[in-house]
Amino acid sequence: MAILPIQRFGNTVLREKSKRVTTISKSIQQLIDDMIETMQKAYGAGLAAPQVGKSLRIITVELPDEEPFALINPEIVKKSGERTVTEGCLSFPGYRGEIQRSELIVCKGLDRNGKAIRIKATDLLAQSLEHEIDHLNGVLYVDYLENEEKLEKVEAPEYPMV
Ligand code: NI
Repeated sequence: MAILPIQRFGNTVLREKSKRVTTISKSIQQLIDDMIETMQKAYGAGLAAPQVGKSLRIITVELPDEEPFALINPEIVKKSGERTVTEGCLSFPGYRGEIQRSELIVCKGLDRNGKAIRIKATDLLAQSLEHEIDHLNGVLYVDYLENEEKLEKVEAPEYPMV
């Protein structure tokens, strides 16, 4: 396992559309393990492969008091409702912003062993999944801000960093 450097806002890898994973090789599983370790070290609720410089459709998520998990080639198949959330991104440290996210999402993908999984999510889980899947499409939460004044500088993160 290894801690990987987290790519910051401005790095072009964060703006690319990530490639689908075709084979879940040992190196893909190693990347997942490293992403989980990196996410935990950064106290993140989620991490997407482009954030560690890999343009691949892989995300990891960990909610408080729950086991971390990975989702390969994740896709949102349904979303509904809208709510205002405070959000931050590990690639954009020191800031947070208020944006709109879905109330409920259903997403599907593969786990680290290639087994198909489907997740129905609300609250922080839905927020984290939407944020990480956006990363795979080169979308960052700051893109949703109505204006720059909605971006707030903060010292200690007490909001989801994803
Ligand atoms: Ni992020």
